[in-house]
Amino acid sequence: MAWTRRSPVGNGSSATVYLASTASSGQLFAVKSAELLKSDFLKIERRVLSSLSNPSIVGYKGFDVTRENGKLMYNLFMEYAAGGTLADEIFRRGGRIKEATAAFYTREIVRGLEYLHKQGLVHCDIKAKNILIAGDGLKIADFGCSRWVCESEAVIGGTPMFMAPEVARGEKQGISSDIWALGCTLIEMVTGAPPWKITDDPVSVLYRIGYSGESPEIPSFLSEKGKDFLRKCLRREATERWSASQLLEHPFLGELSSGLEEIKELHLYS
Ligand code: ADE
Repeated sequence: MAWTRRSPVGNGSSATVYLASTASSGQLFAVKSAELLKSDFLKIERRVLSSLSNPSIVGYKGFDVTRENGKLMYNLFMEYAAGGTLADEIFRRGGRIKEATAAFYTREIVRGLEYLHKQGLVHCDIKAKNILIAGDGLKIADFGCSRWVCESEAVIGGTPMFMAPEVARGEKQGISSDIWALGCTLIEMVTGAPPWKITDDPVSVLYRIGYSGESPEIPSFLSEKGKDFLRKCLRREATERWSASQLLEHPFLGELSSGLEEIKELHLYS
């Protein structure tokens, strides 16, 4: 397939995401590109994404290898989400998303997590920067750190401030580690910053999360339902955290209105 890169839409540590279009029909898609020699994480992402199909997961559209400026580039094609990342959205809304909208967004993410966890997949890096906003809903993206539950080795990956205590201690990531990160992402949506606002180095952050016995501070301005939802996600003991299916029944998500206002806003991104 012939295609053209248009403009960059996002930047990670080792890959750049571009808006691109096909030469034949001009159809838009996103392409994530990294140098072939440094593209192992993109290959993991391709293997995982190509096995998934769900409206809450960014759609996989193929891959190729190109030669550009003397380098071989590995390109992963996926659905283009016109609203960018949830982190962009928090910024656009002045650093805080109001609770009802955050609940609506959370429900979309939990639906995606329920699907992933039923497939036996742990995302391992849930945070606002890895959630995309499209006209038909939110999409979980960035599967470069993800692991199948059956993989035996413990791999420390992800982003320190979103890591569950067991992950910070170097133990194996389980599906409940994603639920802890979901709680941190909800805090990020309503306060504009992830929990553990410490300027210290990552080692101190990990030590505090893993061994201090503390849980992140629950924002005092949230409703009782919102606070309770967060407590169910942020239990230090992994086995005590609620599953994605249980969370979908929690009053914070279960009693949402139709979300019409939020759906209208999403249509802006069609
Ligand atoms: N940023 C990262 N991935 C993206 C995608 N698929 N669509 C739009 N923006 C993105």
